[in-house]
Amino acid sequence: MPAVLRLLSFVRSYWRQVVLATLAMVGLAGFSLLVPWLIGRAIDIGLAAGSLTTLVLLAGAVVLSTVLRGLCAFGQTYSSEWIAQRVAYDLRNAIYDRVQNLSFSFHDRAQTGELMSRATADVESVRWFLSFAVTGIVQIVLLLSGILVLMVRLNSHLALVTLAFIPVAVGVALRISSVLRPSWTRIQEQMAVMTTFLQESLAGIRIVRAFAREPERLAGFRNENEHLHALQVRQARLQALNAPLLALLLSMATAASLWLGGREVIEGRLSVGDLVAYIGYLGLLTMPVRRLGFLINTVARAEASGRRIFDLLDAESEIRDAPDAIELPPVTGHVRFEHVSFSYDRRAPVLTDITLEARPGEVVALLGATGSGKSTITLLLPRFYDVTAGRITIDGYDIRQVTVRSLRRQIGIVLQDPFLFSATIRDNIAYGMEDAPFEQIVQAAKLAGAHDFIMSFREG
Ligand SMILES: Nc1ncnc2c1ncn2[C@@H]1O[C@H](COP(=O)(O)OP(=O)(O)OP(=O)(O)O)[C@@H](O)[C@H]1O
Ligand SMILES: [Mg+2]
Repeated sequence: MPAVLRLLSFVRSYWRQVVLATLAMVGLAGFSLLVPWLIGRAIDIGLAAGSLTTLVLLAGAVVLSTVLRGLCAFGQTYSSEWIAQRVAYDLRNAIYDRVQNLSFSFHDRAQTGELMSRATADVESVRWFLSFAVTGIVQIVLLLSGILVLMVRLNSHLALVTLAFIPVAVGVALRISSVLRPSWTRIQEQMAVMTTFLQESLAGIRIVRAFAREPERLAGFRNENEHLHALQVRQARLQALNAPLLALLLSMATAASLWLGGREVIEGRLSVGDLVAYIGYLGLLTMPVRRLGFLINTVARAEASGRRIFDLLDAESEIRDAPDAIELPPVTGHVRFEHVSFSYDRRAPVLTDITLEARPGEVVALLGATGSGKSTITLLLPRFYDVTAGRITIDGYDIRQVTVRSLRRQIGIVLQDPFLFSATIRDNIAYGMEDAPFEQIVQAAKLAGAHDFIMSFREG
């Protein structure tokens, strides 16, 4: 299924707002179409009869329908933006939830910057699609069909000639957008490359500084940034071409209507007011047709972004609770590895046939050359990865038969590279044990030799 259609399914739960937006759109198109007709009436009835009252009445009607049109425009913009923001909100939450729950092996393969760019830039282009493109396209369809009917009713002969311009204009818009589309994909990808570069520079800032590599990093960033800039400028040139080209086509249609319509008026087959109304309708088309290229682009962009988002949302975590998983009851910590083998990529073996036992209270140290698999052994115990063969038990429970949450709650880990969240010292120490009593946290800080240093801060 195309990603844009799947995106629309996210809108379904907000059907009330959708109904509101649709009503507003219909109203907007209706009142837009009413104004040229009223002006035509003013000329034909008011002017022809020399009746000032009719003129004043019709002028009032023009103002009134413009006000109502404004109200509908407000309702349409507000409700469609509401829906779009709401879906963006839902998508961000869904992405965050997914990223939190995907396994370590997924994160080994994924780049942080690339994931961040999906949660931000891609969600944003989806929001644009929902708030501008969907309403824009419905608007064009409504206006086009309305205008078509009205024009044919006014003068079918004239309508045939002028409306021939519409397919040409639409064709030009489509042609331009087909050039723009691949260039959008490239921009989006380059954006992800730059985000990754930036994220890695920030995460590795100490290493960069330690080796005095700032000039090279800067040059690298400049290079990526320049590439993005060049792509955007090219894009802007293509887009800038779009509007004048379509405006030219529409003004040619207007000129043709004036010429042919004028002849109809002179020969008495069309009234002056109807000609004015007719040209007014044509003018109504200028904006939507001019935006057609932009709209198609937005759809193409949302399709690319939507696919990137759904790829992520559809990714399955390799570590999941078994359907019949039980809660791991409080354990004493009797750990057994039974003929355990493991490989990160299912090709190069990292552990082969490891059997070991650690009894409660026992301190076990693993010694070995770097890269021999010591850290890997410890990562298997909390099920950050699953063994490829054999099994691991704690107090006799196979760790794949208990829920991941109940397993990890009973394991304490000190990782090789500590990570601090932007939170208080208290929260960082008590991470994973939110309800730990304060004395216990202080005790932990004392044991770690951090207490004095913490107390040296003004607010501890
Ligand atoms: N996330 C990973 N993805 C793929 N391969 C990995 C991953 N982590 C480690 N490896 C590989 O698995 C092997 C064992 O790595 P491990 O980190 O367990 O070694 P170690 O004994 O802890 O080394 P050190 O003494 O350097 O800490 C190495 O060849 C390493 O390159
Ligand atoms: Mg290690």
